[in-house]
Amino acid sequence: MIWFWVASGIVVLFGFVVVRGAPYVPTRRKLLDKAFTTLYPLGKRDVLVDIGSGDGVVLRAAARCGARSIGYELNPALVVVAKILSRSRLISVRLADFWFVTLPSETTIVYTFGDSRDIKKMYKKVQQTASLHRKDVYFMSFGFKVPNVQHEKHDKSFYLYKVKPLQSGKAQV
Ligand SMILES: C[S@@+](CC[C@H](N)C(=O)[O-])C[C@H]1O[C@@H](n2cnc3c(N)ncnc32)[C@H](O)[C@@H]1O
Repeated sequence: MIWFWVASGIVVLFGFVVVRGAPYVPTRRKLLDKAFTTLYPLGKRDVLVDIGSGDGVVLRAAARCGARSIGYELNPALVVVAKILSRSRLISVRLADFWFVTLPSETTIVYTFGDSRDIKKMYKKVQQTASLHRKDVYFMSFGFKVPNVQHEKHDKSFYLYKVKPLQSGKAQV
């Protein structure tokens, strides 16, 4: 009987997020290491935000490049796993629905492994961040292109966008 309740708990924890975004599937570490050295070379000057940070694999890849990273994750079990696996002063993991979060002003790049339903809305969220803080913010999407927006670079399944503030007059909407 206990196994029934444990299994049900896991299904609920991992299943309920699909209402708010993509389900948990991690990006492969090797792919991240390549993307963060060639597509967008991350460095000490960067603050990467992962919207839907899962087990924190992206945050750890960013920290290996010397960047600070912040992850927002809805599933409390994954927040605990990410905190255990990501013990670095460069990394912070927060239990939050990223749709309701104002991304920090230090953000230089936002990463997502999202889904086709939400990718445009995620781009708009990054654009709001760029507009609020009046600076360009990069957006890296794994697996999904943003419809009708020209990417700056791409490599296999990674797409990189330079998102301009709306008030710059150069924003793609
Ligand atoms: C496809 S996984 C990607 C995980 C990680 N970014 C990676 O690339 O390995 C998407 C993650 O987003 C989380 N998620 C979905 N909707 C969310 C929301 N609205 N707020 C915070 N996290 C969310 C899921 O729980 C899941 O862990």
